[in-house]
Amino acid sequence: MIFNVSEKRELPPVQAVAQETVIILDFGAQYAQLIARRVREEHVYSEILPFDVPWADIARRNPTAFILTGGPQSVMAAGAPHLPPELLASGRPILGICYGMQELALAAGGTIVPGRIREYGKAELIIDAVHSPLFAEVPPRSQAWMSHGDTVTALPHGFIKLAHTENCDLAAIGDPQRQWYGVQFHPEVGHTDSGRLILRNFLRKVAGLRRRWQMSSFIDSAIERIRREVGDARTICALSGGVDSAVAASLVARAIGDKLTCVFVDHGLLREHEADEVIEAFRDVLHVDLIAVDARERFLDVLAGVVDPEAKRVAIGREFIRVFEEHAKRLPGVECLVQGTLYPDVIESKTPHSATGAKIKTHHNVGGLPERMHLRLIEPLRLLFKDEVRALGRELGLPDSIVHRQPFPGPGLAVRVLGAVTQDRLALLRRADAIAREEIARSASPLPWQFFAVLTPLQSVGVMGDGRTYANLVAIRAVSSEDGMTADWARLPHELLARVSTRIVNEVAGVNRVVYDITAKPPATIEWE
Ligand code: XMP
Repeated sequence: MIFNVSEKRELPPVQAVAQETVIILDFGAQYAQLIARRVREEHVYSEILPFDVPWADIARRNPTAFILTGGPQSVMAAGAPHLPPELLASGRPILGICYGMQELALAAGGTIVPGRIREYGKAELIIDAVHSPLFAEVPPRSQAWMSHGDTVTALPHGFIKLAHTENCDLAAIGDPQRQWYGVQFHPEVGHTDSGRLILRNFLRKVAGLRRRWQMSSFIDSAIERIRREVGDARTICALSGGVDSAVAASLVARAIGDKLTCVFVDHGLLREHEADEVIEAFRDVLHVDLIAVDARERFLDVLAGVVDPEAKRVAIGREFIRVFEEHAKRLPGVECLVQGTLYPDVIESKTPHSATGAKIKTHHNVGGLPERMHLRLIEPLRLLFKDEVRALGRELGLPDSIVHRQPFPGPGLAVRVLGAVTQDRLALLRRADAIAREEIARSASPLPWQFFAVLTPLQSVGVMGDGRTYANLVAIRAVSSEDGMTADWARLPHELLARVSTRIVNEVAGVNRVVYDITAKPPATIEWE
């Protein structure tokens, strides 16, 4: 179980089963969860604790090693967060990252100069101590990602220089005797070429940790936590068909069994077979108590005549809450609501820019519900990343059809049927989309991050058989992306595009032209509305 300093002050319970634990002491880092995730990837159990947690709480966890995170302050500033005084005396291996390295150096008697050089972005990391266990198998020169203003300028007693960059003479330092190490760069981010290897070296070669932690261990501790949070209450979950809510629901179902009821609202804007797959997986395979609401007509009614993309999103979001609320209120004793919030959602919602940034699209969710219905939120995935959620879903026995589902907007096909949404247009798009996804999934390599069809409001002239047609234009969108924030159009083979086009025009009545979207995000967005 992991704990995020900026979220809640309540500490997680000490693990019942003794195991090797790494404590990540958080100095207010943006990347604390990323570090925890990297440690998980090495199959080592970790907990994030605030830097000022009482030492007794740390000692009870009997940590094998410590990682000190970065942080936004200067260690020399008045009121800056500092190491617990007992840490250095604990005799445990320590890895300080960025601010954490400066704190370690300061506490051990080194000198830190504030704002001497500012170094942001990639730098070439040159290893000086090639035999240091921290840099085992790391190339002598590689790229590392820096983000700092302060610098360690004089080594504490017992430390040696391990690596430098052009602008930072002490980019990595270490006291091999006491197993204290510091890196000025960020090994946890993907831009540091050997970052994972360096963290692995710290965990294995320095701290001697073994690969013991598994996703199943996460399940055990999450179940224990959910049971504590829910108590005797009944709980509901809005299942959207997406992987996040599905995994959250099946985890909660494992924890509290029939005290969980899932409400799946079929708004009629789902892809081909999607509603059946969700119902089958939850009701028949996972045996979760599921209320499937057929609200297709209601959603078509509220969408009638609505063509503006934002108006569609707002109308769908409102109706969703209405339908969900109506059904949830029929269940007695409900006190909690399960949501599949992921860690990137938590970070994004906290970015300083989010309050002032321009609104691009209204994302549909059930965010207004907990206060309205006086429900406690249960968010068992809020510390995980998407691919970890997929791994968790597999571990929980969810079918591949759900675990590998592509991201899909809450307002569904309504934002892919441009202009007016009607039963007929939805049916046409659903078929064209199924063909596009089938062909792309069969032969694109690598598989794009997301791929689908869009029904445009355009009609154009064509010739089929010997006759003139005047029919719909379907666009295909396939993008590569890491997180959906930016994206590039996928360079699909021409033969594949040809097959998609031929099949759609031949098999979907009412379509006589197919185009491929070759725009990146930005300037476009992934969805067309
Ligand atoms: P855009 O179109 O903004 O999409 O580039 C970025 C990613 O978000 C998905 N998306 C949504 N997901 N509710 C969601 O849960 C929404 O309302 C929504 N709108 C877009 C989109 O499919 C892409 O993966």
